[in-house]
Amino acid sequence: MRVHILGSAAGGGFPQWNCNCRNCYGVRNGKINASARTQSSIAVSLDGERWLLINASPDIRAQLEANPALQPKRGLRDTGIGAVVLVDSQIDHASGLLMLREGCPFDVYASSMVHQDLSSGFPVFPMLESWNGGINYCELAIDGSAISPRGFEGLTITAVPIHGKAPPYSPHRHDPHVGDNVALYIQDVKTGRSVFYAPGLSGLDEPVLEYMIRSDCLMVDGTFWREDEMIYAGVGTKLAKEMGHLPQSGRGGMIELLRCFPEHRKILIHINNTNPILDNNSAERRVLDKEGIEVAYDGMEIDLSRGEGMQPSANALSTSSGLEFNVHRVSR
Ligand code: MLT
Ligand code: MN
Ligand code: ZN
Repeated sequence: MRVHILGSAAGGGFPQWNCNCRNCYGVRNGKINASARTQSSIAVSLDGERWLLINASPDIRAQLEANPALQPKRGLRDTGIGAVVLVDSQIDHASGLLMLREGCPFDVYASSMVHQDLSSGFPVFPMLESWNGGINYCELAIDGSAISPRGFEGLTITAVPIHGKAPPYSPHRHDPHVGDNVALYIQDVKTGRSVFYAPGLSGLDEPVLEYMIRSDCLMVDGTFWREDEMIYAGVGTKLAKEMGHLPQSGRGGMIELLRCFPEHRKILIHINNTNPILDNNSAERRVLDKEGIEVAYDGMEIDLSRGEGMQPSANALSTSSGLEFNVHRVSR
Protein backbone atom coordinates (compact mmCIF):
# COMPACT_ATOMS: atom_id res chain seq x y z
CA MET A 1 0.00 0.00 0.00
CA ARG A 2 1.26 3.43 -0.95
CA VAL A 3 0.11 6.68 0.59
CA HIS A 4 0.70 10.00 -1.18
CA ILE A 5 0.24 13.15 0.82
CA LEU A 6 -1.36 15.51 -1.65
CA GLY A 7 -2.03 18.34 0.80
CA SER A 8 -0.58 18.65 4.30
CA ALA A 9 -2.03 22.01 5.39
CA ALA A 10 -5.24 22.73 7.25
CA GLY A 11 -8.08 24.83 5.81
CA GLY A 12 -6.69 27.99 4.21
CA GLY A 13 -3.46 26.30 3.11
CA PHE A 14 0.03 27.69 3.65
CA PRO A 15 0.46 30.54 3.02
CA GLN A 16 -3.18 31.51 3.45
CA TRP A 17 -4.20 34.03 0.78
CA ASN A 18 -5.19 36.82 3.18
CA CYS A 19 -2.69 36.14 5.97
CA ASN A 20 0.48 37.96 6.93
CA CYS A 21 1.28 36.06 10.12
CA ARG A 22 4.96 35.29 10.74
CA ASN A 23 4.72 31.99 8.86
CA CYS A 24 2.63 33.14 5.90
CA TYR A 25 4.65 36.31 5.40
CA GLY A 26 7.85 34.36 5.96
CA VAL A 27 7.23 31.61 3.43
CA ARG A 28 5.90 34.06 0.84
CA ASN A 29 9.01 36.21 1.12
CA GLY A 30 11.65 33.55 1.75
CA LYS A 31 12.23 34.78 5.32
CA ILE A 32 11.74 31.40 6.99
CA ASN A 33 12.92 27.89 6.11
CA ALA A 34 9.56 26.41 5.15
CA SER A 35 7.70 25.09 2.14
CA ALA A 36 4.22 26.02 0.96
CA ARG A 37 1.49 23.45 1.52
CA THR A 38 -1.90 22.82 -0.05
CA GLN A 39 -5.09 21.84 1.78
CA SER A 40 -5.74 18.53 3.47
CA SER A 41 -5.91 15.43 1.27
CA ILE A 42 -4.16 12.08 0.78
CA ALA A 43 -4.38 9.33 -1.83
CA VAL A 44 -3.91 5.60 -1.27
CA SER A 45 -3.13 2.91 -3.84
CA LEU A 46 -2.23 -0.76 -3.99
CA ASP A 47 -1.04 -0.87 -7.59
CA GLY A 48 0.20 2.69 -8.10
CA GLU A 49 -2.40 3.21 -10.81
CA ARG A 50 -5.81 3.24 -9.16
CA TRP A 51 -6.02 5.73 -6.30
CA LEU A 52 -8.49 6.20 -3.51
CA LEU A 53 -8.76 9.93 -2.88
CA ILE A 54 -9.25 10.64 0.78
CA ASN A 55 -10.79 14.09 1.11
CA ALA A 56 -11.25 16.32 -1.89
CA SER A 57 -9.57 19.64 -1.20
CA PRO A 58 -10.21 22.86 -3.12
CA ASP A 59 -6.55 22.52 -4.23
CA ILE A 60 -7.20 19.17 -5.95
CA ARG A 61 -6.35 20.48 -9.39
CA ALA A 62 -2.86 21.63 -8.39
CA GLN A 63 -2.41 18.47 -6.32
CA LEU A 64 -3.10 16.25 -9.34
CA GLU A 65 -0.71 18.28 -11.49
CA ALA A 66 1.97 17.83 -8.83
CA ASN A 67 1.43 14.06 -8.58
CA PRO A 68 1.63 12.53 -12.08
CA ALA A 69 0.98 9.03 -10.67
CA LEU A 70 -2.66 10.09 -10.25
CA GLN A 71 -2.98 10.86 -13.96
CA PRO A 72 -2.05 7.59 -15.71
CA LYS A 73 -3.24 8.86 -19.13
CA ARG A 74 -4.84 5.60 -20.28
CA GLY A 75 -7.49 7.31 -22.39
CA LEU A 76 -8.46 10.65 -23.86
CA ARG A 77 -10.44 11.54 -20.73
CA ASP A 78 -9.15 9.54 -17.76
CA THR A 79 -8.08 9.75 -14.14
CA GLY A 80 -6.27 7.59 -11.63
CA ILE A 81 -8.88 8.50 -8.99
CA GLY A 82 -11.10 5.44 -8.55
CA ALA A 83 -13.29 6.69 -5.69
CA VAL A 84 -13.40 9.33 -2.96
CA VAL A 85 -13.72 8.95 0.82
CA LEU A 86 -14.57 11.87 3.13
CA VAL A 87 -13.78 12.14 6.85
CA ASP A 88 -16.12 15.09 7.40
CA SER A 89 -18.06 17.71 5.46
CA GLN A 90 -15.68 20.64 6.10
CA ILE A 91 -15.06 22.94 3.17
CA ASP A 92 -11.34 22.03 3.04
CA HIS A 93 -12.22 18.33 2.67
CA ALA A 94 -15.33 18.40 0.48
CA SER A 95 -15.28 21.41 -1.84
CA GLY A 96 -12.85 19.64 -4.20
CA LEU A 97 -15.75 17.44 -5.28
CA LEU A 98 -16.98 20.44 -7.27
CA MET A 99 -13.60 20.64 -9.05
CA LEU A 100 -13.98 16.98 -10.07
CA ARG A 101 -17.35 17.55 -11.78
CA GLU A 102 -16.01 16.69 -15.26
CA GLY A 103 -15.37 13.14 -14.01
CA CYS A 104 -18.96 12.38 -12.90
CA PRO A 105 -20.22 9.84 -12.10
CA PHE A 106 -17.87 8.46 -9.45
CA ASP A 107 -18.33 6.89 -6.01
CA VAL A 108 -18.12 9.01 -2.84
CA TYR A 109 -17.97 7.23 0.53
CA ALA A 110 -19.05 9.25 3.57
CA SER A 111 -21.03 8.85 6.78
CA SER A 112 -24.74 9.57 6.58
CA MET A 113 -24.23 12.76 8.66
CA VAL A 114 -21.66 14.03 6.17
CA HIS A 115 -24.01 13.13 3.31
CA GLN A 116 -26.75 15.12 5.04
CA ASP A 117 -24.56 18.24 5.27
CA LEU A 118 -23.51 17.86 1.65
CA SER A 119 -27.16 17.60 0.64
CA SER A 120 -28.36 20.58 2.70
CA GLY A 121 -26.03 23.31 4.10
CA PHE A 122 -23.48 22.74 1.30
CA PRO A 123 -25.55 20.89 -1.33
CA VAL A 124 -22.74 19.35 -3.38
CA PHE A 125 -24.65 16.11 -4.05
CA PRO A 126 -27.78 17.73 -5.57
CA MET A 127 -25.69 20.35 -7.40
CA LEU A 128 -23.56 17.78 -9.16
CA GLU A 129 -26.61 15.89 -10.43
CA SER A 130 -26.51 18.23 -13.41
CA TRP A 131 -23.12 16.77 -14.41
CA ASN A 132 -23.74 13.40 -16.03
CA GLY A 133 -26.01 12.31 -13.17
CA GLY A 134 -23.62 13.44 -10.43
CA ILE A 135 -21.75 11.52 -7.75
CA ASN A 136 -22.84 8.17 -6.31
CA TYR A 137 -23.31 8.27 -2.56
CA CYS A 138 -21.95 5.17 -0.81
CA GLU A 139 -22.54 4.95 2.91
CA LEU A 140 -19.51 4.70 5.15
CA ALA A 141 -20.77 2.74 8.16
CA ILE A 142 -19.82 4.04 11.60
CA ASP A 143 -20.50 0.84 13.51
CA GLY A 144 -16.94 -0.45 13.26
CA SER A 145 -17.52 -2.56 10.17
CA ALA A 146 -14.88 -2.45 7.46
CA ILE A 147 -15.73 -1.80 3.83
CA SER A 148 -13.80 -2.20 0.58
CA PRO A 149 -14.62 0.61 -1.85
CA ARG A 150 -15.67 -0.60 -5.30
CA GLY A 151 -12.50 -1.19 -7.32
CA PHE A 152 -10.36 -1.39 -4.16
CA GLU A 153 -11.09 -4.94 -3.06
CA GLY A 154 -7.59 -5.36 -1.63
CA LEU A 155 -8.13 -2.52 0.85
CA THR A 156 -10.41 -2.23 3.84
CA ILE A 157 -11.51 1.05 5.36
CA THR A 158 -12.96 1.30 8.84
CA ALA A 159 -14.51 4.61 9.86
CA VAL A 160 -13.82 5.36 13.53
CA PRO A 161 -16.20 8.03 14.91
CA ILE A 162 -14.37 10.81 16.74
CA HIS A 163 -15.44 13.87 18.69
CA GLY A 164 -15.77 17.07 16.75
CA LYS A 165 -18.33 19.43 15.37
CA ALA A 166 -20.14 19.66 12.10
CA PRO A 167 -18.83 22.59 9.97
CA PRO A 168 -19.91 26.20 10.66
CA TYR A 169 -22.38 26.08 7.72
CA SER A 170 -24.04 22.86 8.89
CA PRO A 171 -27.72 22.99 9.94
CA HIS A 172 -26.71 20.85 12.96
CA ARG A 173 -23.52 22.73 13.88
CA HIS A 174 -24.68 23.02 17.50
CA ASP A 175 -26.29 19.61 17.65
CA PRO A 176 -23.44 17.06 17.36
CA HIS A 177 -24.04 13.55 16.01
CA VAL A 178 -21.90 10.45 15.84
CA GLY A 179 -20.49 10.40 12.31
CA ASP A 180 -20.00 14.17 11.92
CA ASN A 181 -16.27 13.42 12.05
CA VAL A 182 -14.48 10.12 11.56
CA ALA A 183 -10.90 8.89 11.52
CA LEU A 184 -9.99 6.14 9.06
CA TYR A 185 -8.20 2.86 9.65
CA ILE A 186 -6.97 1.74 6.23
CA GLN A 187 -5.54 -1.72 5.82
CA ASP A 188 -3.89 -3.59 2.96
CA VAL A 189 -5.66 -6.94 3.16
CA LYS A 190 -2.79 -8.96 1.69
CA THR A 191 0.07 -7.63 3.82
CA GLY A 192 -1.98 -6.60 6.86
CA ARG A 193 -0.15 -3.27 6.92
CA SER A 194 -2.21 -0.28 7.90
CA VAL A 195 -2.39 3.42 8.43
CA PHE A 196 -4.52 5.46 10.82
CA TYR A 197 -5.57 8.78 9.32
CA ALA A 198 -7.10 11.49 11.50
CA PRO A 199 -6.56 15.05 10.25
CA GLY A 200 -8.88 16.27 13.02
CA LEU A 201 -8.52 14.57 16.39
CA SER A 202 -9.54 16.38 19.55
CA GLY A 203 -8.87 13.60 22.01
CA LEU A 204 -8.59 9.95 22.53
CA ASP A 205 -11.27 7.50 23.40
CA GLU A 206 -11.08 3.77 23.53
CA PRO A 207 -11.90 2.75 19.94
CA VAL A 208 -9.52 5.38 18.59
CA LEU A 209 -6.73 4.10 20.79
CA GLU A 210 -7.31 0.53 19.66
CA TYR A 211 -7.07 1.41 16.00
CA MET A 212 -3.97 3.51 16.62
CA ILE A 213 -2.28 0.59 18.34
CA ARG A 214 -3.05 -1.72 15.43
CA SER A 215 -1.67 0.65 12.79
CA ASP A 216 1.84 0.72 11.39
CA CYS A 217 1.69 4.40 10.64
CA LEU A 218 -0.16 7.19 12.45
CA MET A 219 -1.09 10.25 10.43
CA VAL A 220 -2.70 12.52 12.97
CA ASP A 221 -3.93 16.05 13.65
CA GLY A 222 -1.06 18.53 13.39
CA THR A 223 -3.24 21.64 13.23
CA PHE A 224 -2.01 23.62 16.23
CA TRP A 225 1.03 23.76 18.49
CA ARG A 226 -0.78 25.74 21.21
CA GLU A 227 -4.30 25.45 22.59
CA ASP A 228 -4.74 29.24 22.16
CA GLU A 229 -2.76 29.50 18.93
CA MET A 230 -5.35 31.47 16.90
CA ILE A 231 -5.66 34.01 19.72
CA TYR A 232 -1.88 34.09 20.34
CA ALA A 233 -1.22 34.72 16.63
CA GLY A 234 -3.88 37.46 16.66
CA VAL A 235 -5.89 35.88 13.85
CA GLY A 236 -8.86 34.34 15.62
CA THR A 237 -10.83 33.89 18.82
CA LYS A 238 -11.30 30.14 19.16
CA LEU A 239 -9.36 27.61 21.19
CA ALA A 240 -8.06 24.45 19.52
CA LYS A 241 -10.59 22.30 21.36
CA GLU A 242 -13.48 24.46 20.19
CA MET A 243 -12.34 23.68 16.65
CA GLY A 244 -11.98 19.93 17.30
CA HIS A 245 -8.18 19.82 17.38
CA LEU A 246 -5.69 18.58 19.97
CA PRO A 247 -2.62 20.86 20.13
CA GLN A 248 0.83 19.30 20.15
CA SER A 249 2.20 21.02 23.25
CA GLY A 250 1.02 20.96 26.84
CA ARG A 251 -0.33 18.44 29.28
CA GLY A 252 -2.33 15.75 27.53
CA GLY A 253 -1.31 17.21 24.16
CA MET A 254 -0.45 15.27 21.01
CA ILE A 255 3.26 14.96 21.83
CA GLU A 256 2.45 13.30 25.15
CA LEU A 257 -0.09 11.07 23.50
CA LEU A 258 2.30 9.97 20.77
CA ARG A 259 4.92 9.01 23.36
CA CYS A 260 2.69 5.99 23.93
CA PHE A 261 3.57 4.75 20.46
CA PRO A 262 7.38 4.52 20.40
CA GLU A 263 7.41 1.82 17.72
CA HIS A 264 4.94 3.47 15.35
CA ARG A 265 5.76 5.81 12.54
CA LYS A 266 4.21 9.13 13.60
CA ILE A 267 3.37 11.90 11.15
CA LEU A 268 1.55 15.17 11.87
CA ILE A 269 -0.79 16.23 9.09
CA HIS A 270 -3.39 19.02 8.52
CA ILE A 271 -1.05 21.75 9.78
CA ASN A 272 -2.46 25.22 10.24
CA ASN A 273 -0.50 28.13 8.81
CA THR A 274 -0.03 29.62 12.29
CA ASN A 275 1.83 26.54 13.60
CA PRO A 276 5.53 27.21 14.34
CA ILE A 277 6.45 23.63 13.33
CA LEU A 278 6.11 24.77 9.69
CA ASP A 279 9.42 26.59 10.17
CA ASN A 280 12.07 23.87 9.79
CA ASN A 281 14.45 25.92 11.98
CA SER A 282 12.02 26.47 14.86
CA ALA A 283 12.58 25.28 18.42
CA GLU A 284 9.20 23.54 18.22
CA ARG A 285 10.41 21.55 15.23
CA ARG A 286 13.47 20.44 17.19
CA VAL A 287 11.18 19.16 19.92
CA LEU A 288 9.32 17.02 17.37
CA ASP A 289 12.61 15.71 15.94
CA LYS A 290 13.65 14.59 19.40
CA GLU A 291 10.29 12.88 19.88
CA GLY A 292 10.56 11.03 16.57
CA ILE A 293 7.51 12.81 15.16
CA GLU A 294 7.56 13.77 11.48
CA VAL A 295 5.83 16.75 9.89
CA ALA A 296 3.97 15.96 6.67
CA TYR A 297 4.75 17.91 3.52
CA ASP A 298 3.10 17.95 0.11
CA GLY A 299 4.51 15.17 -2.06
CA MET A 300 5.52 13.00 0.91
CA GLU A 301 5.15 9.30 0.08
CA ILE A 302 4.81 6.38 2.46
CA ASP A 303 5.34 2.95 0.97
CA LEU A 304 4.04 0.42 3.49
CA SER A 305 4.78 -2.47 1.13
CA ARG A 306 8.48 -1.64 1.36
CA GLY A 307 8.29 -2.15 5.09
CA GLU A 308 8.27 1.50 6.02
CA GLY A 309 6.19 0.52 9.06
CA MET A 310 7.35 -0.66 12.47
CA GLN A 311 8.31 -3.91 14.11
CA PRO A 312 5.78 -5.62 16.39
CA SER A 313 6.44 -4.87 20.04
CA ALA A 314 4.68 -4.35 23.33
CA ASN A 315 5.18 -1.43 25.67
CA ALA A 316 3.61 -0.40 28.91
CA LEU A 317 3.35 3.35 29.05
CA SER A 318 1.69 6.18 30.82
CA THR A 319 1.22 9.83 30.05
CA SER A 320 1.49 12.58 32.60
CA SER A 321 -2.24 13.17 32.15
CA GLY A 322 -2.71 10.02 34.18
CA LEU A 323 -3.71 7.79 31.31
CA GLU A 324 -2.07 4.40 31.57
CA PHE A 325 -2.34 1.46 29.25
CA ASN A 326 -0.48 -1.28 27.49
CA VAL A 327 0.35 -0.66 23.89
CA HIS A 328 0.54 -3.98 22.10
CA ARG A 329 0.91 -4.16 18.39
CA VAL A 330 -1.66 -6.67 17.23
CA SER A 331 0.03 -9.67 15.64
CA ARG A 332 -1.15 -10.71 12.22
C1 MLT B 1 -10.51 22.75 10.48
O1 MLT B 1 -10.33 21.55 10.35
O2 MLT B 1 -10.68 23.29 11.60
C2 MLT B 1 -10.55 23.51 9.21
O3 MLT B 1 -9.30 23.43 8.56
C3 MLT B 1 -11.23 24.77 9.19
C4 MLT B 1 -11.49 25.22 7.78
O4 MLT B 1 -11.47 24.42 6.83
O5 MLT B 1 -11.71 26.41 7.62
MN1 MN C 1 -9.73 21.19 8.24
ZN1 ZN D 1 -0.86 32.77 8.40
